[in-house]
Amino acid sequence: MKWIGNALWAALCALVLSWHAPSLAQAPTSDAAATPLQNIHGRQHQSLNGRWNFIIDPYETGYYNYRREPFDATPSGKGGFYDDLAPPQKGELVEYDFDLSPTLKVPGDWNSQAEKLAFYEGTVWMRQVFNAEPKGDKRYFLYFGAVNYQAHVYLNGKKLGTHKGGFTPFQFDVSGKLNKGRNFVVVKVDNMRHQDEIPTVNTDWWNYGGITRDVLLAEVPATYIADYKVQLAKGDLKRIEGFVQLAGAQPRQSVSLSIPEAGIKTTVKTDANGRADFTIPVNKLRYWSPEDPKLYDVEIAAALDTVNDRVGLRTIETRGKDILLNGKSIFLRGISLHDENPLMQGRLRGEGDMRMMLQWARELNANYVRLAHYPHSERMSRLADEMGLLVWAEVPVYWTISWNNPDTYRNAHQQLTDLVVRDKNRASVIIWSIGNETPVSAPRNDFMGRLADTVRALDDTRLVAAALEVHREGKLVVVEDPLADKIDLASFNEYAGWYWSDPTDMLTYRFDIKVDKPVVVSEFGADALGGYHADSATRWSEEYQELLYQNQFTMLTAIPGLRGMTPWILADFRSPRRPHPRYQDFWNRKGLISDTGQKKKAFYALKRFYDQMQQKYR
Ligand code: GCU
Repeated sequence: MKWIGNALWAALCALVLSWHAPSLAQAPTSDAAATPLQNIHGRQHQSLNGRWNFIIDPYETGYYNYRREPFDATPSGKGGFYDDLAPPQKGELVEYDFDLSPTLKVPGDWNSQAEKLAFYEGTVWMRQVFNAEPKGDKRYFLYFGAVNYQAHVYLNGKKLGTHKGGFTPFQFDVSGKLNKGRNFVVVKVDNMRHQDEIPTVNTDWWNYGGITRDVLLAEVPATYIADYKVQLAKGDLKRIEGFVQLAGAQPRQSVSLSIPEAGIKTTVKTDANGRADFTIPVNKLRYWSPEDPKLYDVEIAAALDTVNDRVGLRTIETRGKDILLNGKSIFLRGISLHDENPLMQGRLRGEGDMRMMLQWARELNANYVRLAHYPHSERMSRLADEMGLLVWAEVPVYWTISWNNPDTYRNAHQQLTDLVVRDKNRASVIIWSIGNETPVSAPRNDFMGRLADTVRALDDTRLVAAALEVHREGKLVVVEDPLADKIDLASFNEYAGWYWSDPTDMLTYRFDIKVDKPVVVSEFGADALGGYHADSATRWSEEYQELLYQNQFTMLTAIPGLRGMTPWILADFRSPRRPHPRYQDFWNRKGLISDTGQKKKAFYALKRFYDQMQQKYR
């Protein structure tokens, strides 16, 4: 009889827990803090970067018991790899031990740090131990710049929450949850791909797993400056428009805003919700541009909290076929890049890596970069501010997304919102891209249309774009994607000479762009194995890539409304879709710079072209 009782009990548990443990797609995108702190690196903080112990857990043994019930959902909440382990008592069975486990660098993906993790997709547990001296009158936030893909976060053995999305920041309020002295944070990182996620299962980039950006413990006063925006109003060179958002017990305050170099000092009063919107007329400003990337020191001071930032002020808009920066027509001399260091075969880890990539773009005489296909780090946007590079920023709504799944939409919406909230004060960021090469259909048009509305509601001062669909009719390359109505550019990818036609025949084609907006070609290119030389009709050779670029310039400059381009791509990058043993070896070779940092012939062809375009648009 006893086993019948047990079976009934087990069935009951399974029922309760199956209600409790919904599938990944239905899980909320984040039960983290509401609004990430703006400019967290500008706050009092302790870095938790460094070497973290890790445990590879392909069967999620540290999360589920053998009945596939999540430990942290059981009444005791005990049993998972997030518990703090006292040295096991004699005879006690313990099957994991972080102290004895190897380490990985954070920030950093796991694929480039451990041979056995190069192709690994699944769960890895990461643990960091740190000391803290929490003060009673302060608030504390545990902040992650990015974790790919889903994170379950535990502090001192207790669950803080989860987050999904591999490229956007999140944080947990840990006020009152810190010990004086030793603390430990454990993160279950899972980079498994799923159809209903963002991105979905199919991408042309490496699915790097891990805690890929900074981890900080920030300390702020009881009432603090949670968020702010300081930018010029849409298309208005004479007006700063923005807001300050306080959080905490004293929402109603006088907050001063000063930009000393611009002779600006004003005070605003926040309302019962801690919010104050402001408009400040401005006179003589040095407007931010690639030629003069002027950043102003800005100080926002509330009763207990002060934040300093460096902000560029510029306007960006379109008029007919023109893109106007500070009211003047501009040509976007761009290049696409992934958040990857080819020399290390891994995610960009620090400022040095990022500067290297942007410096390479500068050597092309580029004034613009497409940070593809997902939010790159905040540090990258700030470096672009400093180096005077305009930015196309994007969310990974890429190829065949589950358009009809409301949770998938919520996920995309959240990632887009988090990107805009994070980078809204970056002058370099001029374009929000809501997606790439998404096939036309009614559910897709609806999904993407709502994303476009979302981004406009969040920030009306920048342009909205996407890599639209194109198709061919005979010798015509036709752009007539219905999504074009919702965005500000006729932006699209085209691979004349590589995926169709060849570097010579491509000149017999011409574009038919049924969109009366500035044309920005978001991708074109060809693979070339660095150092492989042959005649220009031989695929994979540098000569083939070079000729293709030269003929792309001829084709594209024939388009009357052409106002920019971001050839694909600055450097070779890792891709699981590229197995050719001689030419690819899991690299997409469309880089103008090889995986060893060698500039290919097409690099110089593009530089020459940009030198000419710079003259033309002086
Ligand atoms: C696509 C896509 C890129 C991809 C590229 C290629 O257009 O947007 O992510 O890497 O083409 O095929 O090389």
